[in-house]
Amino acid sequence: MRFIVTCFVIALSVLIAYYGLEYDHGFLRFAQRSPKNLTGVKVPEKSPFDDDEDDLMSLYMEDSDQSYSLHYDFYQDSCPTAERIITKRIREFYAAKPSVAPSLIRLLFHDCFIEGCDASVLLDADESFASEKEAPPNQSLKGFDVIESIKSELESVCPGVVSCADVLVLAAREAVLMAGGPFYPLETGRKDSVVAFKEMAERELPSPQATISVILARFGTRGFNERETVSLFGAHSIGTTHCTFFEDRLYNFSGTGKPDPELDTGLQQELKTKCPFSASAPSPGTGVGPSMPASDYGTVSSAGGNDGVIDMSYNNEGGEENFGTRYYRRLMQKKGLMYADQQLTGREETEMWVRAYASDTQLFRRDFATSMMKLSNYHVLTGPLGQVRTTCSKVLPKN
Ligand code: HEM
Repeated sequence: MRFIVTCFVIALSVLIAYYGLEYDHGFLRFAQRSPKNLTGVKVPEKSPFDDDEDDLMSLYMEDSDQSYSLHYDFYQDSCPTAERIITKRIREFYAAKPSVAPSLIRLLFHDCFIEGCDASVLLDADESFASEKEAPPNQSLKGFDVIESIKSELESVCPGVVSCADVLVLAAREAVLMAGGPFYPLETGRKDSVVAFKEMAERELPSPQATISVILARFGTRGFNERETVSLFGAHSIGTTHCTFFEDRLYNFSGTGKPDPELDTGLQQELKTKCPFSASAPSPGTGVGPSMPASDYGTVSSAGGNDGVIDMSYNNEGGEENFGTRYYRRLMQKKGLMYADQQLTGREETEMWVRAYASDTQLFRRDFATSMMKLSNYHVLTGPLGQVRTTCSKVLPKN
């Protein structure tokens, strides 16, 4: 007996020494190895999705806790065509207007980051609450009409069944796929909130001028580690950004009257021609840090105003297959657009993932898929909590 126990202890010690143990939400688990432990920039780390899509599926099924109210194919009996309708409609929207993809991915992030994926960002103001849409970080969000249009089709097929929160996560997944990103499995059964959280959106959504400390703190309180946070930023390899959000880096960084030294000089020149100085640029150097005022998001609206718009994909630089990767390569060349983007290279714990994703597209795709699944499942309402709205912009009338 003593021999068996001794063997067990030795085996456990070897495993701990090799993999390390870390504490994660009340559980001890083997830590993920960081890329700096391995040779070069290539990261042959075994990700859950290393082999093929079957592995990805099996991991997902294993992880499903039966007591958890989200289920795979939740609408199988109640609305069997729901997922197919969402997929088809997103493909049609994308064919007509590819910019719909980044808009929906950003919409998902802004919904899930504030009190979870409950479609609260879709609500208009009513007599009992203000709308999250009015919060400065949300004023340039787009894609509400797309979600509403899909929801209205679902209502005609199976009234009162499919939640707006599920429509949004499934639509965003299809958008990722359309934009050249990876597929990831999603459980469904989310419910919609009965309130919106405007003040929290103002306070908690990081500013484009947020420091790495603020970024990590905000993502960290939602359970995202450095690796997951960096991988999510890969979404910034598609879509557009208004000049307002990085103009200070071109003209007057931190009140110096000079450009940001962390911005490549060639890119500075290029951007200056596209973003001539505007007085509406956020006041640089003020408020960077935890108490960043929401007004640093300015008042950019979806109408755009006079503000120029920059294509974050640089015309799909590197090709479709480089969804994500091109973003990290640009960061390594000091070509991040927003201050917050470039901050990912400002600290070793995040920079090592930037380096890894810049050189290993497959690693990025697997990590991005896992992080998007995690984001889509963040703090959801299920079972008796919440409701299924019939119109995504309005809570159900009280009886
Ligand atoms: C610190 C974190 C982040 C900040 C400060 C930030 C900020 C911004 C800003 C200012 C824009 C430009 C909006 C405009 O000009 O209209 C933008 C665009 C975008 N963001 Fe982020 N973002 C962050 C994280 C994320 C994450 C985690 C995702 C997704 C997982 C994401 C997805 C996108 C997408 C796809 C766009 C393009 C939207 C479009 O073209 O319609 N962002 N972001």
